[in-house]
Amino acid sequence: MFGSLKALPADPILGLLAKYKEDVNPLKIDLGVGVYKNEAGHTAILKCVKTAEQHRFNTENSKVYIGPTGSPLFNDEMSKLIFGDHKVLNENRARTVSTPGGTGALRVAAEFITSCKSNATIWVSNPTWANHTALFPAAGLNVKVYPYYDYENKTLDFDGMLAALKEVPKDDVVLLHACCHNPSGMDLSQEQWQQVVEVAKNVGFTPLIDMAYQGFGTGLDEDAYGLRLMAENVKEMIVCSSCSKNFGLYRERIGACTIIAESTTSVEIAKSVLLSDIRGIYSMPPAHGAAIVEIILSSDELRTQWYGEVKEMRDRVNSNRRLLVEKLIENGVQRDFSFIARQSGMFSFLGITPEQVQQLQDEYSIYMVGSSRMSIAGIANSNVDYLAQSIAKIL
Ligand code: LMR
Repeated sequence: MFGSLKALPADPILGLLAKYKEDVNPLKIDLGVGVYKNEAGHTAILKCVKTAEQHRFNTENSKVYIGPTGSPLFNDEMSKLIFGDHKVLNENRARTVSTPGGTGALRVAAEFITSCKSNATIWVSNPTWANHTALFPAAGLNVKVYPYYDYENKTLDFDGMLAALKEVPKDDVVLLHACCHNPSGMDLSQEQWQQVVEVAKNVGFTPLIDMAYQGFGTGLDEDAYGLRLMAENVKEMIVCSSCSKNFGLYRERIGACTIIAESTTSVEIAKSVLLSDIRGIYSMPPAHGAAIVEIILSSDELRTQWYGEVKEMRDRVNSNRRLLVEKLIENGVQRDFSFIARQSGMFSFLGITPEQVQQLQDEYSIYMVGSSRMSIAGIANSNVDYLAQSIAKIL
């Protein structure tokens, strides 16, 4: 049976990690996978996470199953983090379940959509996170794209996006990035969110909002602006969120999937379907990451510490954006890269050709995704001169 299999290429994002690790060049720079790194290039465990883990180590007294929903306290704390003090929580129309990371949340959401309607269509931005277009079809969804990034002008094709969304059939799903658009770093302004919400309300499609980077854009509440506005205005919606980046819990695989429905009765029905979908995929989510997050979010002291640590990560990424733009100018690059400083979150496209991306990898040991998506967190004071000089050379 296995003899008919053909080997598949490594994942375009994760495959880079392995190549980077093997590279012996001491000047190598990893701008590949979306992982936060400090000035020393290290992905450290957050201090609040260390404290919470110690607390858990001292108090955990059982490893018994937790059930498909995951930890109720985690789900509750995550709902508050995502929505704040929001009418969907006050009206008891939202249900959140723990999932194995943000990808797990997306897969669960996709299975849930298929349970609602087989062969449903989901619209994703052009471009979007590469794994979106792989995981939705795996769950039986058709994927269509709406215009989003204007590659030529390094900005948002908002008119194109809005015009396409107006034509989406009402039984389809539209995926929107809450903040820190992956891969373009091009986010909607508040005014643009207001217009998108108006279209969603009028057209009636179901929004699925992916919030993998809450806190990495402009702030924890600010990054949820569009999501919260959407939830105020539509009857049904799905949210997928992740604790990989903002809690630095990448390998613990913890995220959440939230369903909002028209009433408490309908959301309870929806949740029962969601739980049945989960049971059929992985039965129950892992517990460790959820326990860490709930300890942090339910303690005033640890939550405050976490706010500070998220701000520190966000500020470093934003200052890296400005630093790269300055260094490119200093190195005599004529092309205008100022858009990098205006974009937001972990990623931007450098805007070079796939051949130039390959040249940076082969000749300078600088690793980024073939689309020229750079993970800005990989830039540091110690490598930015080399990076800017190398870019200047390949240009
Ligand atoms: C990324 O886009 O680099 C991250 O979301 C990590 C991943 O799983 O692709």
